[in-house]
Amino acid sequence: MLYFYLKPNITIKSKTYLYKKYSQNHFNMKNAIAGFSKLSKEEKINWIANEYFSNPNEAISTIKQYWNSDENLQKLHDEFIENTITNFYLPMGIAPNFLVNGKYHSIPMVIEESSVVAAASKSAKYWSTRGGFKATVLNSEKIGQVHFIYKGDSEKLEKFFSQIKNKFFIATESITKNMQKRGGGILDIELRNKTNELENYYQLHATFETKDSMGANFINSCLEQFAKTLKEESLLFDDFLEEEKNIEVIMSILSNYVPNCVVRAEVSCKVEELSDKNISNPKEFAEKIIQAIRIAEVEPFRAVTHNKGIMNGVDAVVLATGNDFRAVEAGVHVYASRNGKYTSLSHAKIENDIFTYWLEIPLALGTVGGLTSLHPMVKMALEILGKPSAHDLMKLVAVTGLAQNFAALRSLTTTGIQEGHMKMHINNILNQFKTTDEERKLIKKHFENNAISHSVVVEFIENLRK
Ligand code: MEV
Repeated sequence: MLYFYLKPNITIKSKTYLYKKYSQNHFNMKNAIAGFSKLSKEEKINWIANEYFSNPNEAISTIKQYWNSDENLQKLHDEFIENTITNFYLPMGIAPNFLVNGKYHSIPMVIEESSVVAAASKSAKYWSTRGGFKATVLNSEKIGQVHFIYKGDSEKLEKFFSQIKNKFFIATESITKNMQKRGGGILDIELRNKTNELENYYQLHATFETKDSMGANFINSCLEQFAKTLKEESLLFDDFLEEEKNIEVIMSILSNYVPNCVVRAEVSCKVEELSDKNISNPKEFAEKIIQAIRIAEVEPFRAVTHNKGIMNGVDAVVLATGNDFRAVEAGVHVYASRNGKYTSLSHAKIENDIFTYWLEIPLALGTVGGLTSLHPMVKMALEILGKPSAHDLMKLVAVTGLAQNFAALRSLTTTGIQEGHMKMHINNILNQFKTTDEERKLIKKHFENNAISHSVVVEFIENLRK
C-alpha cells in the first residue's frame, strides 16, 4: 500500500518523511505483547480488538460471527494451529465433467479468484468431447538430506560411509516398518561431496517412497535418525583421526524439490476437432496456442504468469484436499527452472494433424495422514474424488492445472482474459455495493451485452441509484 503514498517525483528526504508519517498514522504501531500464546482464546480476541480497532465490540462480533456453532468442530479447527481466534473462509467450488483416463470426475476446488472454477469447468467440458485427459504418474520418489560438515580426508569419509550404510537402514527399522508394509520405505542413501560449492560441506542424500502419504514426518524422522547414526558411528571408526570424528550435523530435512515425483497430463485431438461455436478456424487457433506456449518457453516474464495460471488449478485442488500448497508451489517453480532458465511447464505441438497439449509437474501429495482424515471438508473433497490414492490425486491435480492453462490461453489468444474474468468478478462488485436483488437483475441484464470493467459497473450502479 505504501506506493500509493510515494509519488515518483518526491525527493528521498520527503519519501522518508512520508514513510514515517505513514507508519505512525496508518500502521498504527502498537506495543509488543509477552505471552500472547498463553492467553485464553477470549483474552487473545479482546487484546486484538482493543489494540487494533476503533470499535472493539464490532471487531469481536465479526471474529465470533465466523466461529462454528458446533463447539467440537470449532475446537478441532482451533487446534490445527496456534493462537487461533476464528476461521477464515474460502469458497469450495466444484468443476464437473473432468474425463480423466476414461472416467468422469468432479473436482473440488478451494480458491478466492472468481473465474477459476468456471474456467476449469469450461475446459473440462470442452475436452470431454475430444477424448478427455490422459494422465500418468512418471515416478513418485521423495528426497531428504542430512547436511553436515566434515573437516577431513574425503576418501576416508567415503570408506566410512560404505561400511556403515546398512546401519542407516537398521537404525530406522522401527520408523520404516509400517511404511514397508504399505510398499514404501527408504529407497537409497548416497553420500554427496559438496565441497566444491561450500568448504567441508557433505550430505547424506536419501530417496524415499511414501505411497499414499505425503511423507514429510516419515522422511524427517528417518533423516534425524540418520544424523544420529552418522555421529555415533563416526566415533567408532578407527581410520578417522580424532578431529575427523567430529562430524557436525547442520540440519536434517526433506527437500520440497521432487524432480522424480512427476505426473504428466495430456490432451490431444485432430486439429479440425478443436472447432466449436467460438472456434471457427481450428488450425489458426491451435497455432496461436502453440505460439503462446513458445513465448512462455523462452520468456520468463510470461512463463511465470503462464505457470501461475496452471497453479490456479493445481493449488485449488491441493488446498481442497488438505495438502501443503507451499511445498507444491516451491517444488513446481524450481522444477520450471531446472535447466537454468525459468520456463513454461506446459507444451503443445501439431504432428500429423494431431494437436497435443501437455504438462509435466512435480507433485508431492498425500491422501492419508496430515489433515486428510481430520478436516471434514478435506475428507469430503477426497470422497468426491473417489478416495484417490496419492498417484490418482497427482493425476487429478495435474489435469486441473492443464485445464486451467488451456482456459487461460484460449481466452488470451481469442477474446482476451478480461471478458470472462469480469463476468465472474461482477458479483464481487455487486456485493461491495450491497446491491439489492432488483438492482442485480438490471445490472446483469445490462452487462450481458456490454463490456464490463470495475469503473463502468460502479458508474452504472451510481446512475441507477440517482
Ligand atoms: C490469472 O489468475 C491467470 C492468468 O494470468 C494466466 C495466464 O496469463 O496464462 C490468466
